Amino acid sequence: MNDAAPTRPAPGPATGSTAELVVERPAHGGHFVARHEGRVVFVRHALPGERVRARFTETDDASFWRADVVEVLEESPHRVRHPWPQADALRAAASGRHPVGGAEFGHIDLAEQRRVKAAIFEEQLARLARTERTITVEPALGESADGLGWRTRAAFAVDRGGRLAMHVHRSHDVVRVREMPLAVSAVNGLRLWEVDLTGMARVDVAVPSGGGDPLVLLVPADGTTPRRTAGVASAISGASVGVLDPESGRVQRLSGRTWLQEQVLGTGYRVTGAGFWQIHRSAPEVLVGAVLDGLQPAAGERVADLYAGAGLFTVALADAVGPEGSVLSVEGSSGTSRDARRNLHGRDHVVIEQGRVDAVLGHRRDPQDVVLLDPPRAGAGRTVVRQVIDARPRAVGYVSCDPASFARDLGYFLGAGWTLDALRVFDLYPHTHHMESFARLLPPAA
Ligand SMILES: C[S@@+](CC[C@H](N)C(=O)[O-])C[C@H]1O[C@@H](n2cnc3c(N)ncnc32)[C@H](O)[C@@H]1O
Repeated sequence: MNDAAPTRPAPGPATGSTAELVVERPAHGGHFVARHEGRVVFVRHALPGERVRARFTETDDASFWRADVVEVLEESPHRVRHPWPQADALRAAASGRHPVGGAEFGHIDLAEQRRVKAAIFEEQLARLARTERTITVEPALGESADGLGWRTRAAFAVDRGGRLAMHVHRSHDVVRVREMPLAVSAVNGLRLWEVDLTGMARVDVAVPSGGGDPLVLLVPADGTTPRRTAGVASAISGASVGVLDPESGRVQRLSGRTWLQEQVLGTGYRVTGAGFWQIHRSAPEVLVGAVLDGLQPAAGERVADLYAGAGLFTVALADAVGPEGSVLSVEGSSGTSRDARRNLHGRDHVVIEQGRVDAVLGHRRDPQDVVLLDPPRAGAGRTVVRQVIDARPRAVGYVSCDPASFARDLGYFLGAGWTLDALRVFDLYPHTHHMESFARLLPPAA
């Protein structure tokens, strides 16, 4: 028996202290790897090859520490001036502030951002799916040269003075903001930074991807009176305004509509205020194109669209297979599933099921010709992958917003003898570390 006390790792440097670091390579999650006192440090706002001074932000974990760049001592040729002053770590540090989160790659030129994302995707595939692949990250259709003005959805905090703000990365602290350069102009056109938002905890803004009036959702702080909320709403012009209950996702109308009318490739979609919709203004078109090109659904085929949201892909798949075919569309959120029902109205060969994908596939074991998965960031998981394989499709399409969960799920398919037949990665989140991918997976030959 060993009764010696477990050895505690030596305490890390104090948070707030700084050290000089040499930056090695990108890592998943918007960080770059450096080493200090034998420990891995995940550094934000850096670039490979740089020598930087970084301020430690978290040092209590035994296996790694976190830090933010505050000064660049030897600069990468790919470093550029950050287009968003409040998200720029260097300008924030110079004025004793922390940068807001949400544009952690803004200091990197766009072409290099895409190369960094490709390297991260390749690393996740190698580590979690044991698959070597060379990846090229494609820009979105019609992307602006500066990579700005693409977000059709934005969530803001409110500071103690009742002004529009955003959160500092991994913190409850907020920083007052004005223009949000990643957002489409209709978001900034509301000039919410001029509105007294006292009493609100959060303000969400959504704009239809093809243009149109924005929808502003107010989330009142505990104890705020309905009169105060109505007062805030009356100070917002040029938008529909509702009150969002973040627990239930329900929206109470204050003015205008509680939903958005989206338009993609000639089809109209209704999306409730709090319901899921792709964020980049070109994402719906880019992804519908990738899914149809990649899966080639044919007339008469049986298709399942899992994690279907308001039916973005269900409509396209239903039209491709036609009335002789069938589509099973599964979505967990009740509000979004109601939208899907409206958006698919009149397409009688579509069955919409509201519920968890694993539960629905647990009782519906119909064979499918094609299955499309578009899970949230956590991925589909082992059970759902097994259920999909059991449906014996000729092909699976997997749309993903997270290379790590995708690579893990891909590993389950590969372990069952499937092949990664095609993979496209899209830069649908410029100036952030996020990316979107579409993969075509094929079963083992019979
Ligand atoms: C990434 S979104 C994709 C939505 C849709 N495919 C689109 O592109 O608009 C994921 C969707 O899955 C839903 N969802 C999350 N977990 C789920 C689960 N376990 N079962 C069913 N749906 C789920 C979410 O509500 C969300 O609408």
